[in-house]
Amino acid sequence: MNSIIQTLTAIVSDAFASCGFDPALGNVGVSDRLDLCQFQCNGAFAGAKLYRKAPFMIAEQVADVLKENPVFAKAECVRPGFLNLSVTDEFLKEQGEALMADPFLGIPQAEKPETIVLDYGGPNVAKPLHIGHLRSAIIGESLKRIARSTGRTVQGDVHLGDWGLQMGLVIAELSERCPEWRCFAEDFNPEKDEVPALEASELNEIYPFASKRSKTDEAFSQKAHICTYELQNGRAGYYALWKEILRASIADMKQNYEKLGVDFDLWYGESDADKYIPELMEILTGKGLLRESDGAMVVDVAEESDKAPMPPVIIRKSDNSSIYATTDLATIIQREKDFHPERIWYVVDKRQELHFTQVFRCAKKAGIVPEETDLAHLGFGTMNGSDGKPYKTRDGGVMRLSDLIATVTDAAKEKLTASEFVSEADHNEIAEKVGIAALKFGDLINQPTRDYVFDLDKFLSFEGKTGTYLLYTVTRINSILKKAGLDETSPLSLHSVYTDAERELWLNLLLTGGVFQRALDEKSPSHVCENAYQLATLFSRFYHDNHIMAEEDEAKKETWLCLCRFVRTVLLKHLDVLGIESVEHM
Ligand code: ARG
Repeated sequence: MNSIIQTLTAIVSDAFASCGFDPALGNVGVSDRLDLCQFQCNGAFAGAKLYRKAPFMIAEQVADVLKENPVFAKAECVRPGFLNLSVTDEFLKEQGEALMADPFLGIPQAEKPETIVLDYGGPNVAKPLHIGHLRSAIIGESLKRIARSTGRTVQGDVHLGDWGLQMGLVIAELSERCPEWRCFAEDFNPEKDEVPALEASELNEIYPFASKRSKTDEAFSQKAHICTYELQNGRAGYYALWKEILRASIADMKQNYEKLGVDFDLWYGESDADKYIPELMEILTGKGLLRESDGAMVVDVAEESDKAPMPPVIIRKSDNSSIYATTDLATIIQREKDFHPERIWYVVDKRQELHFTQVFRCAKKAGIVPEETDLAHLGFGTMNGSDGKPYKTRDGGVMRLSDLIATVTDAAKEKLTASEFVSEADHNEIAEKVGIAALKFGDLINQPTRDYVFDLDKFLSFEGKTGTYLLYTVTRINSILKKAGLDETSPLSLHSVYTDAERELWLNLLLTGGVFQRALDEKSPSHVCENAYQLATLFSRFYHDNHIMAEEDEAKKETWLCLCRFVRTVLLKHLDVLGIESVEHM
């Protein structure tokens, strides 16, 4: 459906045209003074310059035309030249009915098919997920859902770090702890030899140990490099062991991601890009882009307009190994082949900005994606502790994601009074959902590029811009509908618009689709969070002002219940695209 803004803009543009002015002046926006009017148009100011007339003369002429239109309850010119507009309740109701009938809830749908590959999560195999992975997962999941709500196809790819030195470190360490394993033997036979099963908890201990060891033990570090090289060059025993490390590690990751309500369409990793590296080298060589530098092969990506130095991107190191940028470029070849996407977006820590600038420039120079493909890095800031430094555990370590989830769940459990729950199991389940909602909303409400402070007390508050408040609002509506004996399918109609609180609610509901679009355009779920909060607040006011259940006028009561139910539908849509699960009661 056309948005109310589009509909009104069309009417006002026609009015400008009928007065002999440029219809492009008729852009309508929401009023920032809802006490004066609902919408406004400031086109007369631009018109004044164009036609050398005082703005109010233009606005007055246009207002006179608009006054004749039954859509407006008010259309007036206010000096020095604003057009203040309010629509009739009848029109608002019609718009509301159209919105309720729209399966997309007014969210503008992409005009032509569009595919986005969304690279988020980015965990590393054999390393436990920690809070550094939290933001990528939360923000990426939400962007995926927002883009899908606008009719776009999104392929969410976890892009595992599964091919680098960390694999060599784990293999080298295991080879010393368990030298008798067949996978370390030169004559390992993949047909009949087996690799023992590993546990994620073992890997979580081995990797940090090996990583630390390699910093002081030169021989071990050498060995890890050799293991990495041999793995990448197809040594069968290492490859079989690597497969097992991957299996154990991914099973563990999936559990954590599932708790967070994050899921991926593709579980590709850096290793999957390996087979595209020869093609990448061919393209770069063919285009004459590679040059040697200190034994390494690099591509220059500096541009004249660069204000800061832009180093060349290293494609192949002097020891012949490929690095991060090589893998990312090869992955772009893979994505182009598989999906020919219009956009590839990367939700990765903003500290990796230079890397992505280099990779994108190189990809465009080499023509591995068309010039018009939108390659974008959505760099996000850090989650800090109350000291303003990256959030740490009590003993100063990096917090594991599983521990963070346990912390928020415990805090939510304490906050929710036990007596309200049917059973202990019910209490636990709801506490986990509330805790995760609080955590996710507390993150997403911030513009992604900004750092923010992890403040569990604030996140879990029943008041203010919190996930808890939103879940609570939904449960309040649930209980109203339950009392009234209504469900999703009960027939309910709107009869009119009775109060200011309803008018404001309808305005919010009618403008919601535009907010989703803006969140996508700016790649910032924060707009959806803000809008959800506004909607919940308006609802609370409406609910507080009107005694729905006690209302004797049947038409009024039905209208209000209908509105309640639709507010819930729209609130749930907000939560859904934020990746937040709602609860029935709390
Ligand atoms: N594994 C990487 C890291 O831990 C993040 C991967 C991000 N995605 C990418 N295509 N580079 O830093």
